[in-house]
Amino acid sequence: MKNYITLSDIDHVETIIREARSLKSKNPSSKPGKGKTLGMLFFNNSLRTRLSTEKAAKLLGMEVMVMNADKDGWALEFEDGAVMNSDKAEHIKEAAAVLSQYCDIIAVRAFPGLKDKEKDESEHVLNSFKKYASVPIVNLESATGHPLQALTDAITIQEFNKAVRPKVVLSWAPHPKALPQSVANSFTEMMQRLEVDFVITNPEGYDLAPHVRNGVKVEHDQEKAFKDADFVYVKNWSSYEDYGQVLNVEKNWTIDQAKLKNTNNAKVMHCLPVRRNVVIADDVLDSENSIVIHQANNRTFAAQAVLKRILECRKE
Ligand code: CP
Repeated sequence: MKNYITLSDIDHVETIIREARSLKSKNPSSKPGKGKTLGMLFFNNSLRTRLSTEKAAKLLGMEVMVMNADKDGWALEFEDGAVMNSDKAEHIKEAAAVLSQYCDIIAVRAFPGLKDKEKDESEHVLNSFKKYASVPIVNLESATGHPLQALTDAITIQEFNKAVRPKVVLSWAPHPKALPQSVANSFTEMMQRLEVDFVITNPEGYDLAPHVRNGVKVEHDQEKAFKDADFVYVKNWSSYEDYGQVLNVEKNWTIDQAKLKNTNNAKVMHCLPVRRNVVIADDVLDSENSIVIHQANNRTFAAQAVLKRILECRKE
């Protein structure tokens, strides 16, 4: 694996899930990251991604440097040929090249602006790092995807699954702020690569991008979608059609115990952070149905498997 930017950087999902689960069961004594440095740049807040990826790198023997790029770094210019006589002090060409002198892998978190669909879909921040860095790039959640989260989710579903072909439902839930579609996009892409029956449920106006859904069934009736579900993955996202907007939704889409009654005692997942009693009710989060903490724990092993693969590829 040269980079981990999208899920398409994983050639065989089952193999990397197996590797992550093996790393979870026993951390090997060999340290493929010894003498190597991971640099992590955050243009947005994080708890899980930051700490689990740092832990993963250290378990592999790597040194780790973390920078809150939005607060501590120079404001970056991404336009080619820009006349930099305004607020941007450093061009991505120098920034990425300089970071490549200090780091063996660069990991970047850069959320979308949710104003300009075309700009967000171009992934200009992540792709500029890829273009101008001379070391591998890892996506810590970008404008359109969160592939480390999706790998974690696949590991977690496999751990808890008891069915031959489980029914997995991705459910939209309310949120007061406009959030990216990234987690939902990557989860949808990942489910299409697993042996599951996958359904998305969201209110009208919240359908994910057609190229992400790629023919996956969207059921606008949440109750119908939940019937016999083995896993309910809950996430809010802002509208793709009415790009970045929070639309008026008449029905209550918050996930509570009453909504789970027709499921197959479904396990409930969420990438976190979660707003209690807005996205998911206390009676679910505090119940046996919730596996969100287990899911968050798996972030470490997903990151470890990805970093290990990149380190191994660099050695070849
Ligand atoms: N799930 C996730 O990416 O969490 P953070 O935003 O806290 O990193």
